[in-house]
Amino acid sequence: MTLQKLIKNRNAALKYVTFIFLFALLVSDVFAQQNKVEAKINALVKQMTLEEKVGQMAQVSVESLGKLEGGNFVFDEAKLKDAVQNYKIGSILNSPGEPLTAAQWNAVVEQIQNAAKQTKMKIPVLYGLDDNHGCNYVLDATLFPQQIGQSATWNRQLIFNAGVITAYESRAASVPWTFSPVLDLGTNPQWPRIWEDYGEDPYLDATLGVEFIKGVQNPLGSKDKLAVSIKHYMDYSDPKSGHDRTDSWIPEYYLREYHLPAFAAAVKAGARTVMVNSALINGIPTHINKHLLTDVMKGELGFTGFIVTDWQDIENVYRRDHITNSIKEATKLAINAGIDMSMIPYNYKEFCTDLIALVKEGKVPMSRIDDAVTRILRVKEELNLFTTPMTYLKDYPKFASREFQKASYNTAAESITLLKNENNILPISKTAKILVTGPNANSMRCLNGGWSYTWQGEKTDTYAKEYNTILEAVTNKFGKDNVKYVQGVSYNEAWGKFNEDSLLDVDAAVKAAADVDYILLCIGENSYTETPGNINDMNLSPNQITLANAVIKTGKPVILILNEGRPRVINDIVPGVKSILDVYLPGNFGADALTDILTGDVNPSGKLPITYPRYPNSLVGYIHKPSEGEGNPQGGEFGPQFHFGFGLSYTTFAYSDLKINKNTFGPDENATINVTVKNTGSKEGKEVVQLYVSDLVASITPDVKRLRGFEKVDLKSGESKTITFTLPLKDLAFVNNDNKKILEAGDFKIQIENLTSTFTVNKTKIF
Ligand code: BGC
Repeated sequence: MTLQKLIKNRNAALKYVTFIFLFALLVSDVFAQQNKVEAKINALVKQMTLEEKVGQMAQVSVESLGKLEGGNFVFDEAKLKDAVQNYKIGSILNSPGEPLTAAQWNAVVEQIQNAAKQTKMKIPVLYGLDDNHGCNYVLDATLFPQQIGQSATWNRQLIFNAGVITAYESRAASVPWTFSPVLDLGTNPQWPRIWEDYGEDPYLDATLGVEFIKGVQNPLGSKDKLAVSIKHYMDYSDPKSGHDRTDSWIPEYYLREYHLPAFAAAVKAGARTVMVNSALINGIPTHINKHLLTDVMKGELGFTGFIVTDWQDIENVYRRDHITNSIKEATKLAINAGIDMSMIPYNYKEFCTDLIALVKEGKVPMSRIDDAVTRILRVKEELNLFTTPMTYLKDYPKFASREFQKASYNTAAESITLLKNENNILPISKTAKILVTGPNANSMRCLNGGWSYTWQGEKTDTYAKEYNTILEAVTNKFGKDNVKYVQGVSYNEAWGKFNEDSLLDVDAAVKAAADVDYILLCIGENSYTETPGNINDMNLSPNQITLANAVIKTGKPVILILNEGRPRVINDIVPGVKSILDVYLPGNFGADALTDILTGDVNPSGKLPITYPRYPNSLVGYIHKPSEGEGNPQGGEFGPQFHFGFGLSYTTFAYSDLKINKNTFGPDENATINVTVKNTGSKEGKEVVQLYVSDLVASITPDVKRLRGFEKVDLKSGESKTITFTLPLKDLAFVNNDNKKILEAGDFKIQIENLTSTFTVNKTKIF
């Protein structure tokens, strides 16, 4: 060995040793920190009485402790004292029915924490809110597109940013816990909460969920971060009926193959709390499913945070599901199954009394109670609530800032998905004359959907009036003289009838079309969530179809704006319209983003995170077996209106040079896949490069193809980039009917756009 080589090797060795040393220091620091947390909470638990422990496991809704008076929430002192001091409840949730300002939230949470300080243990109360698309119960907070729209961006950074901003604004309102993200897999388009999730693909769901969690939680304990609650564990989203909170029928290997991965990835990323599926799986209410809650979540996945029920769901085991003869019996089953905290949300006395009795009767072991309380206190300690139970608006100067609003706008702009553009009719000139029509045209409520200011989002037009509806944004952009408005169809505003609409003035719309250049037809759905959002027909409502057909008949080019939570069937009107833009539920800046796309100031880059069905009876998604597919020798049926991953741009892209580094791999290897994408059009644009892999032969019929990677790239006209995917082969393993992940030897096909290639896995392996 030459002297030079010797020195080089020594330097490398030195660097390596230093790295190992620093890494070991870091790891030991993390462990020391963890040990400190564990020692502190163990000591606390030892000092607690059974009553104090059970109290920690109870969560009540704020409206049971006071009421709104002139826009302010006023506690009933006696009720607050009873809940926090007598029953020592550990958590409070929800908005009082109207949104509050951040300063009002400060006052609400401060009174609760002051009450908690009067207890023997002085354990801070954990307040939680549903921040579904930003802090939707905090007035003036930044509302983002709903999750389905966020997902349509296929942009990791934007989702991460949404997480950071949501956490910051939530802390400005003193709330350290969010019941988000929704990781339910959007496999059933009838389900009324499909817009609350990241779409139908497990990989996309897991990837974006993890980004959001990183943005919201890390580093946990800092005063602008929150604990997340990943929900609703699991398979809430694919009920047989398509209706909210109803039974799903699914074998465990499908549960594990499709629904578990996003939750597993989120737990690995450090998610601190889990909320349970409010419905049933194979006839068993998930809240008493010990296998899923304890064996899988806490055992297999090693989850160390706590599991909270959904709304009143222990009671539902008794009242709704007829599993027990009393709430007490339901409480026993749920707590023994692994529930740590019960979202009661009103009758906390009954829950506490029952659970204390169950422990005394020996029906719930004390060890189970200690485990639950340890988990709850662990999260409170990790959040630093013991030292900082309060955070205040004054320390959050960026709350509702222009910078945050721009982030919401950017997310909306990248989510909007161009599904049709006959003869490149879009973009249109800024001097064009436009008729704006449809029930979604002048509604902030429709742009935001449910979970906006209120649960069902029915008051959004009042609370979000400073933002632009589509009509307002179009008027701002094209000028008052160039824009006409006829509503055509109106939604029913009465509670429980949100899904109904009626014809208003279709003839007036047709008449108004006479002297315009384009018709902007804004249709879709009104706001809803959960059970009030159930439907029995996936077709878009007949009144809206009537309006659509009437304006199509005028012969003026119709630009269809789809503003909906679910992909309602529009097959009859697709051929007649020239362009289609799906805006999903784009939030308070969605209309501004849409108009920038109409004029070409922004080039659309959204891609569908769901399959858009063509017929109401054909709701199969892109993940399906070959027997459903186009290549089926018995005649393929799968032919959605628009495919998962589809979305047009104002420019064009060409793919070339798909290369894989080897032909044959061992099961533990990584494949390196390269592809070149070029912007072949005249405008700068963003493209989502999507990597699909097909297992060609497997012992459980393989899906036709599965998404295994994606990258969003920004390319100037004429520019090209080579994208590299590193694909661990073990990611291609599937769950077999022993519920084991197995990668079977054999051939695989990769596909990126129109390019394909194959490779072989040389050995079967169970992971
Ligand atoms: C919903 C949950 C939500 C909870 C608290 C329930 O009805 O299913 O998603 O987190 O209410 O608001």
